[in-house]
Amino acid sequence: MAYLKHQLQNFARLDLVGNSTPLERLHRLSDYVGRDIYIKRDDVTPLALGGNKLRKLEFLAAAAMAEGADTLVTAGAIQSNHVRQTAAVAAKLGLKCLALLENPIGTDAANYLGNGNRLLLDLFNTEVVMCDELHDPMAQLAEQATRLEAQGFRPYVIPVGGSNALGALGYVQCAIEIAEQSSAGFVDFSAVVVASGSAGTHAGLAVALRELMPETQLIGVTVSRRAEDQCPKVEALAGQLMQALSLTGPTPDITLWDEYFAPRYGEPNKAGLAAIKLLAEQEAMLLDPVYTGKAMAGLLDGLAQQRIPGEGPVLFVHTGGAPALFAYQG
Ligand SMILES: Cc1ncc(COP(=O)(O)O)c(C=O)c1O
Repeated sequence: MAYLKHQLQNFARLDLVGNSTPLERLHRLSDYVGRDIYIKRDDVTPLALGGNKLRKLEFLAAAAMAEGADTLVTAGAIQSNHVRQTAAVAAKLGLKCLALLENPIGTDAANYLGNGNRLLLDLFNTEVVMCDELHDPMAQLAEQATRLEAQGFRPYVIPVGGSNALGALGYVQCAIEIAEQSSAGFVDFSAVVVASGSAGTHAGLAVALRELMPETQLIGVTVSRRAEDQCPKVEALAGQLMQALSLTGPTPDITLWDEYFAPRYGEPNKAGLAAIKLLAEQEAMLLDPVYTGKAMAGLLDGLAQQRIPGEGPVLFVHTGGAPALFAYQG
């Protein structure tokens, strides 16, 4: 723990998240499913409706400021939570934000196109550029950066999901909080469950929890890819993160469940919607249709199928996303 804390201090960092996010027991849900379920509340990080990206942006936006950038450039779906949080951070820091957006489900539903996260982008004065598809996001972002430079701006490119080694440091910090909070509360988690998308959250937790809570299994529920496609992404990022932290040895073993994201990224499914409803009615806890609803569906099914090891409590890392609830209505 001391080593990881020390290594984190080697990186420039803005204080955007503040104190540890809460870690709570879900009393009614635990009774309902017959197993202790806890939740790490990264949905309530304190900027513009919260979510996991603020932890990554503490490091990414600090690097942008250190380089003298005046514009954050990033990409994602029209309803991306990452883009919304990047735009919010830019507004707070007095920077411009350019968002390159795609419509991954090809919908023309008015709420998807204009409500939820997308509505907030306009409030933050984001320059939105639409593209047909993010087929090669880093190249497409580089093009946007070149265009901005020609206009006299100093852009800083943040990859999709904020998922590079610098961004993943945010989830090393989250793992430190989880280890401290579980030890203060005398809770030994059998498993930690998290949505695995652009993989920075998963990789950060995987690297740090192996150091801090080696007995606990980390399960990533994929939201966009089959396990065989997601695993190399998480492993590569974990390797880069270990290098950044001067950690040696093999990358951590990665566990992925890929049965819960169908039909595809960004399109809700029945089990995910049922999980959203269950958490709302049992706990007044708001999940989302793209990430956390599907991840919670995996947790619940994993319990039902006895796929979760041990008998101890299970921690769900709530990565946010509820603003998208308003985009998927109607
Ligand atoms: C609500 C929510 N949960 C989970 C994730 C997945 O995190 P990562 O992209 O780091 O895998 C995201 C990413 O956008 C998200 O918005």
